[in-house]
Amino acid sequence: MLLLSCGLIACNNTPTANYQIVPLPQEITVAEGSGFTLDETTVIAYQGDEEMKRNATFLAEYIKEKVELDLPVTDQPAGKAITLSVSNSGDNPEGYHLTVNTDGVTIAGASPAGVFYGIQTLRKALPVTKGKAKLPAVEINDYPRFSYRGAHLDVSRHFFTVDSIKRFIDILALHNINRFHWHLTDDQGWRFEMKKYPKLSAIAAERDETVIGRNSGEYDGQHYGPFQYTQDDCREIVAYAAERHITVIPEIDLPGHMQAALAAYPEYGCTGGPYEVWKMWGVSENVLCAGNDATLQFIEDVLTEIVEVFPSEYIHVGGDECPKTEWEKCPKCQARIKALGLKDDDKHSAEMYLQSFVISHAEKFLNSKGRKIIGWDEILEGELAPTATVHSWRGISGGLEAAKKGHNCIMSPNTYMYFDYYQTKHTDDEPLAIGGYVPVETVYNYEPMHPSLTPEQQKHIIGVQANLWTEYIHTFTHVEYMELPRMAALCEVQWCKPENKDYENFKQRVIPLVELYDIKGYNYAKHIFDVNATFTADTIGNCVIAELCTIDGRPIYYTTDGSEPTEASPIYEKPIRIKANCILKAKGIGKRGATRLFSENITFNKATAKPVTLLQPTHRSYGYAGAPTLTDGLKGNHNYRTGRWLGFAGNDFEAVIDLQKPEAVSQVSLSTCVEKGDWVFDARGLIVSVSEDGEQYVEVFREEYPAMTEKNPNQIYHHEMNFTAIKARYVKVKALVEHSMPDWHGAKGYGAFLFVDEIAVN
Ligand code: ACM
Ligand code: ZN
Repeated sequence: MLLLSCGLIACNNTPTANYQIVPLPQEITVAEGSGFTLDETTVIAYQGDEEMKRNATFLAEYIKEKVELDLPVTDQPAGKAITLSVSNSGDNPEGYHLTVNTDGVTIAGASPAGVFYGIQTLRKALPVTKGKAKLPAVEINDYPRFSYRGAHLDVSRHFFTVDSIKRFIDILALHNINRFHWHLTDDQGWRFEMKKYPKLSAIAAERDETVIGRNSGEYDGQHYGPFQYTQDDCREIVAYAAERHITVIPEIDLPGHMQAALAAYPEYGCTGGPYEVWKMWGVSENVLCAGNDATLQFIEDVLTEIVEVFPSEYIHVGGDECPKTEWEKCPKCQARIKALGLKDDDKHSAEMYLQSFVISHAEKFLNSKGRKIIGWDEILEGELAPTATVHSWRGISGGLEAAKKGHNCIMSPNTYMYFDYYQTKHTDDEPLAIGGYVPVETVYNYEPMHPSLTPEQQKHIIGVQANLWTEYIHTFTHVEYMELPRMAALCEVQWCKPENKDYENFKQRVIPLVELYDIKGYNYAKHIFDVNATFTADTIGNCVIAELCTIDGRPIYYTTDGSEPTEASPIYEKPIRIKANCILKAKGIGKRGATRLFSENITFNKATAKPVTLLQPTHRSYGYAGAPTLTDGLKGNHNYRTGRWLGFAGNDFEAVIDLQKPEAVSQVSLSTCVEKGDWVFDARGLIVSVSEDGEQYVEVFREEYPAMTEKNPNQIYHHEMNFTAIKARYVKVKALVEHSMPDWHGAKGYGAFLFVDEIAVN
């Protein structure tokens, strides 16, 4: 940053390029000399064919966008030029060298794709200005870490137009992403035109209506569709992507997630239907019948038309979330199991092996057409198809298992790479999302090379991909909001070596990238620019300490009385020590405008900022910052995965609060967050005991509760435990976890999770 401002002074305020971009190039070497001035006399000269001419044309467009210069493109060598050529002999086929000196700029790629990435780098480095820009002398040597750099988009749950898909592809190109995984079919709609099966267009491309929210049981009454891409649309998109060096990988999700297809062709289901295009979300039990030869023919027919339209080396065949309930009952499926000699063993059921049979069938068929398959990590259950690439989504274990078995894998663990999850803890202010919490920083910090893999096994991790499922995403503007700027973080995971990654530095480099988002009109999420607050309970000073910052150093103004901060409010200079109930509000206000309002209620009671100890452990995934979370004055919201709630499973919740001196107490309260579909239940009982010395406890409150019913809503349950006032220094609270979920629940008999927050003592 310092360098940049010096540069500005050195060259009479001509705006200057900044090579600190996203993704950060592997090697940037500042070179001798005064660099190059891009102005109306500059020419873009390319060496090569049409593909290079297109590269040159892209560069001309990008320069026009940022520098408002119309530069000519020529295939003749020229002085004062940006020269594009395929001449870099590096090992990486997507690598490039970018050189800037007084004579001009050269981008030499190992391939036209390499040149394209060099162009993206130059594009991002340019300042936003009019007519003239200074390019400091530099040598950049750059290449990607991973060869597979993917982004997925679900167009079944909600459909996006061809123009939107092109805009999506432009966004991928900006982030050096080279694979577009297009999820074309699912229970809620079939979006790929099939010539041989016209009912996939006439019936499967629309649904009667759509459930409201997260399977609320209420429907919107709005007919959805018909929406489908014709094969010509798909070819147009494949070509558009190819021009931007992106391969489209289509997904036909099978044998599960097929209810829309079954609505059109019920004969390929186990029961014969009738089925409807699904109007709700989740995992449908209506799947393709694996015992029916005609179904196998249907799969081959679909894949035949898919390979005719999509030239990609890989075809994604799904394989995820295929319930076996129908197969267990279906005479045809059972006959197939018998004929193939499939048996339950201690690892897998016969039906899981039957799924492997279907996937292998698709694999053999695609291999015969010169293609390979990718499948979600469920394809590891049973017998892994011999040439399959595994797409790890339920965490990382599927990917690791695949790599250990010598199979290639792509990492999309949902805890880092699911962009349908919330990107902020303040979910009440967000459009509805599926749940979860994957902020930019979490995406950024993902490291796919797991230490449990040998170097040889690590080579099987061919790349990383983020996925966007669109149950709750109705518009393409909302797609942009979920993708950006998380995709910026993703692209550094995909492109940069881990030793070159640094989140603090990334946040600075994202600022100029966002200027480009503004130019393009992309609807990016602005959370990273918001005031970021960290709260710590100080159990010695008995206060809550708030630390505030913004990534671009915008001055922060704050209030503690609930009023809206303005530039007349106190400016934040050092951590704020909060000792009593307070509404802390803060806003960054600077040259780039104001951030959104930050607001937090901090509430005090006798337990706030007092030491607290857990007597039973949190679940390994939901321990977050541990016990102090329970008395930090901050309450969790409806999302149990924000770190404000502590999660318990298999054991009860039990904690002791040290009030640090004897106090009269007559009430203890705590809250639980319930999301029954996620196995997160309320407590079955609550017990409070108190002590003067921390050794001898007297029980002062005990209540047990019946099992939750299906009707009990998903919400925060606030429990108040009142008892006759008593003097005590130590307060022990126990909340009993549900050890066996009731019969109405899909996971009946299994233990539930219990999420607890903020214990108050009064
Ligand atoms: C998936 O998220 N069902 C692959
Ligand atoms: Zn069947």
